[in-house]
Amino acid sequence: MSSKEELKKTAGIHAAKYVKNGMKVGLGTGSTVKYTILELGRRIKEENLEIMCVPTSIATEKLSIENGIQLHELSSLNGLDLVIDGADEFDKDLTLIKGGGGALVREKIIAQASKQMIVVADDSKKVESLGRFPLPVEVIQFSWKETRRQISQITGLPESKIEKRNQNNNSFITDNGNFILDLHLETIENPQKLESDLNKLAGVLDCGLFCNIANIVVLAGKNGLEIISN
Ligand code: A5P
Repeated sequence: MSSKEELKKTAGIHAAKYVKNGMKVGLGTGSTVKYTILELGRRIKEENLEIMCVPTSIATEKLSIENGIQLHELSSLNGLDLVIDGADEFDKDLTLIKGGGGALVREKIIAQASKQMIVVADDSKKVESLGRFPLPVEVIQFSWKETRRQISQITGLPESKIEKRNQNNNSFITDNGNFILDLHLETIENPQKLESDLNKLAGVLDCGLFCNIANIVVLAGKNGLEIISN
């Protein structure tokens, strides 16, 4: 296992400690929270942990079922106690960029349904300023080129830096049946304003900026674990 993978595992497993018997838990998507899901599966099997979970993607749904985690419809639980999820970048205010895996919309819906959001990350995700990681924006297929033109207008970013995401030479399609546009911004000065400007466009379902949502980051680095809270 590479040292980066070890860090993801350390953060992922530690975050599972926040989950207590009887809780309603959102399960994030990605290669870090995967370790949280495996650890919760172990505790269910070995320690009779009883929890009710909601997955943030089809991939997480599959992984959870494989690990014996019982899943529920979000609407049947009347809100969640916490969600544990990864991030592509986070800054000192715990503002996040998410959606590297394309699950940003369900991730944000579930984070907004949760009393608490715990982020699991290795130290490569901590940044001074957001935006080096391309910002994912989920857009309706029907109008994606027009939406790209409008995003270019409101951000000043040339269309050449607004890239439709591909996978295996085809368009990447989200779990919701939409496209992703990745915005190569390099730096984001005002994440709240950018999120609100993008989300005003009818062709945009949501963007990967998570402002004022995360409460805690469980960060694994070469000097050990750091718990950052706001
Ligand atoms: C999925 O859409 C993303 O938001 C992930 O949570 C994020 O990309 C972090 O994933 P990793 O833990 O794999 O880096």
